[in-house]
Amino acid sequence: MFERAVTAAAVDQEASVETRPIAEASPTLISYRGVGKTFETLQGDVVAVRDITLDVREGEFVTLVGPSGCGKSTLLNMAAGLFEPTTGTVHYRGAVVAPYNQRVGYMTQNDHLLPWRDVMGNVKVPLEIRGVPKGEARDRVESLLHKVGLKGFEKSYPSQLSGGMRKRCALARLLAYDPEALLMDEPFGALDAQLRLKMQIEIRSLAMALGKTTVFVTHDLDEAVSLADRCVVFTHRPGTIARVVDVPLPRERDLMRLRHNATYRDLTAELWDLLSPDMEQMED
Ligand SMILES: Nc1ncnc2c1ncn2[C@@H]1O[C@H](COP(=O)(O)OP(=O)(O)OP(=O)(O)O)[C@@H](O)[C@H]1O
Ligand SMILES: [Mg+2]
Repeated sequence: MFERAVTAAAVDQEASVETRPIAEASPTLISYRGVGKTFETLQGDVVAVRDITLDVREGEFVTLVGPSGCGKSTLLNMAAGLFEPTTGTVHYRGAVVAPYNQRVGYMTQNDHLLPWRDVMGNVKVPLEIRGVPKGEARDRVESLLHKVGLKGFEKSYPSQLSGGMRKRCALARLLAYDPEALLMDEPFGALDAQLRLKMQIEIRSLAMALGKTTVFVTHDLDEAVSLADRCVVFTHRPGTIARVVDVPLPRERDLMRLRHNATYRDLTAELWDLLSPDMEQMED
């Protein structure tokens, strides 16, 4: 699977291009059914999310967007099996998610690279844990570093990398697990606009080429539309689903030119309209 070439496909916005939502064609991979999560804290109960019913289909790229504190990370944590829902169920491939869900790769906002290990050493961690023979592990890591554009930086330490390179390194490590699904929590939040776009192009290309189901949390509405097959918009806490927006753009799309695409512009405007009442509420 890793040997497949990653290509940023040229855009063809013509009607002949496949735009049918993948949700109609594939089996469900992650399923939230009536999910609620309440945290008991010293300050009292915090209802993070309520009544979430959502299916993520195999091969789909789903973005989650909503006000801060509406429970987006909580939903990823439950899919990863870090904690259970208070009400409802979270299933992965038809089975209730148990601690921990080894089939998903989870990339948090903090890249958690090990400062005392070079790039090769960081990306190798999952392979070492699995006991992959050294030679094979080295080949796998080299192939992954090539895929994420870090070839030549094998011996660099995290402190010697730019922000974008650190993200690429974390992405290569995530892929080294060869997870079926990627859970990504604002992975590009700290990057400048140009680097962010570059990383967006790469993650979408990688997800398509490697066939990874992806659930991607972001605060950036442009990112939420440009990456997604479907975008889930949440209300203010307790988070409920305000809308699930299908993104009828070609599966292989040129992110550099989306600003010229009327569907893209309309959808981002729709998201702004959906979320602005919540933003006003936050200012009160
Ligand atoms: N382990 C925890 N213990 C107690 N409260 C928690 C815990 N995790 C999350 N919460 C609370 O649940 C709510 C939702 O948190 P969560 O991190 O899921 O929001 P979010 O949508 O990811 O926010 P942001 O966009 O700021 O990252 C918040 O009020 C948060 O304080
Ligand atoms: Mg969060």
